Amino acid sequence: MIHPAWLPSEAFRAIGSRRVLVQGSGPLADTVRHEIAQACARFGGIVVPDRKTAELILSIAGPGGEGFRLGRRGGATVIRADGPPGLLNGLFEVVRRGERAFDPALADERHVPALARRMLDHWDNIDVHPVMGQVERGYSGGSLFWQDGRPRDLGRVRDYARLLAASGVNAVAINNVNVHTTETRLLTDRLTEVAALASTFRVYGIRVHLSVNFAAPVILGDLSTADPADEAVRAWWKSTTARVYEAVPDLGGYLVKADSEGQPGPFTYGRSHADGANMLAEALEPYGGVVHWRAFVYNHRQDWRDRSTDRARAAHDHFAGLDGAFRDNVILQVKHGPMDFQTREPISPALLGMPSTRLAVELQVTGEYTGQQRHVCYLPPMWSEVLRAVAGHVSGLAAVSNAGDDPFWTGHPLAQANLYAVGRLAWNPARDPIAILDEWIDLTFPGAAAELRDVLHDLMDESWQTYEQYTAPLGVGFMVRPGHHYGPDVDGYEYTPWGTYHFADRDGVGVDRTVATGTGFTAQYPPAWADRYESLATCPDELLLFFHHVPYGHVLHSGVTVIQHVYDTHFAGAHRVTAMRDRWQEAAGLVDPALHARVTERLDEQQRSADEWRDQINTYFYRKSGVPDAHGRPIH
Ligand code: GCU
Repeated sequence: MIHPAWLPSEAFRAIGSRRVLVQGSGPLADTVRHEIAQACARFGGIVVPDRKTAELILSIAGPGGEGFRLGRRGGATVIRADGPPGLLNGLFEVVRRGERAFDPALADERHVPALARRMLDHWDNIDVHPVMGQVERGYSGGSLFWQDGRPRDLGRVRDYARLLAASGVNAVAINNVNVHTTETRLLTDRLTEVAALASTFRVYGIRVHLSVNFAAPVILGDLSTADPADEAVRAWWKSTTARVYEAVPDLGGYLVKADSEGQPGPFTYGRSHADGANMLAEALEPYGGVVHWRAFVYNHRQDWRDRSTDRARAAHDHFAGLDGAFRDNVILQVKHGPMDFQTREPISPALLGMPSTRLAVELQVTGEYTGQQRHVCYLPPMWSEVLRAVAGHVSGLAAVSNAGDDPFWTGHPLAQANLYAVGRLAWNPARDPIAILDEWIDLTFPGAAAELRDVLHDLMDESWQTYEQYTAPLGVGFMVRPGHHYGPDVDGYEYTPWGTYHFADRDGVGVDRTVATGTGFTAQYPPAWADRYESLATCPDELLLFFHHVPYGHVLHSGVTVIQHVYDTHFAGAHRVTAMRDRWQEAAGLVDPALHARVTERLDEQQRSADEWRDQINTYFYRKSGVPDAHGRPIH
């Protein structure tokens, strides 16, 4: 059985037991009608032909737009939508509120999304890749879109589209940013598969985007070069794109990972990333499509002995100088931190330093570095900090999905909350992430006993901080097993070409990224930020080792030394997991037994892994520093 995630039929009870009028035409209005008809069939309500006796009225009041007004008029709850997408968004707002939507005292409210494009990126391959599996960094089984090299049944895709629409997502990229040979063909002879997915997502107001390989003209055997300055290459992209839009007239556009981790790009031809992105933008422009061009460009073959190269600098070094050089339909997609989706990173300075470029911030819902959906790790508190920091700088959000064909969608059933919340935060980054968790609980477990709610809050509210406590300390990052990135391996990346180092020695640890004595990375920030990070006196504790190399005896703002902080947080973090695990046993009988069992099994693994992290990190730093734990706890 597939778990209904945050749309069990019970969530529609308040609507489905009423007299409902839907005004408006077109595919999205039809979707709304269909949702309401189903709810009424189940809960005894009826669809009425006019306003006279209606208790809920959904109508389209404007020509287009995703926003809507919610209020009460003459005894009915009314949604007045700016356009067809607003009608669907209004419906889901009423679903979320349940009975509260019908409170006679309901005040008028206007809802509009803060970010225009709220996109989920899927790192799905058609084929099963020998190293990465079918979904790169996927922890929820296989792809929702392809199986055994062929498209899957679209029923599950439709359910997925419905879930995403209810969370506020309005765009998906369907395939991996590392575009292998088979997937390169989605652009040409496998277009019907893209079209089928686009039709399924379309009825839920979601536009499909396609990841394309920059060297597609060469890979597909049509040309001998992919040079963006070559007329034949430009013509190839134009004619190919014209055919794409014949098949999918509302395709959102292309997503490109170029000159990154072995992917081809404009550097091969001595061209800039603006040259590359603009070529694709020009091809997409007549159809209203956009290019999401990723800023994740760095040297993954650096010499670990070379202390002057700093991977954190890469996005800003490569792109800030191109500010203003991109066409209007290029969106530069920048990872939220300067490294790679670590548990704690500062904001990428590229997001703060490109005022003349359209920017989207990229988040990772899939838990590559945050427990891989075996650990409870509710990430919205982190995302909320990120989104508040980049407000006014970005107009879009792209997040790597954590969903797959697992019966619980996300491997760990509680990781559904991350998927739900990313859309809700993109709609309104000012929301309290814990209030969003409540919303998810209400929808997913309708009528949840207060007891279940308390258990879930105890497990999830601070789970990101707990995970941070028992993994790499004070913002230094990585320390994970190379390759699959699960579990501890302090020196796993230390002498590799990947640029992810901690520089621990017998005296201290951390990366000196200051202007005064380090890589100068801090200078990439606007002055107030740069000053804050440059100085030990003002650098926040949680980012200390990201910006500074300090002795183990350095005293944090919290009053303890770095080494004692490492010990304290690692003991505390693993201990908190024990408390979470015990607490979950109190939810037995409050949720579906299969869900309870799945979470129990994951918590057992989280405990094993947290203990392993604690012991490896503590032992490593004890052996390096020779400083004993002030409290005499066991270190090996
Ligand atoms: C990380 C991840 C890769 C992914 C890359 C990206 O490095 O480990 O699997 O391809 O990010 O974002 O492109």
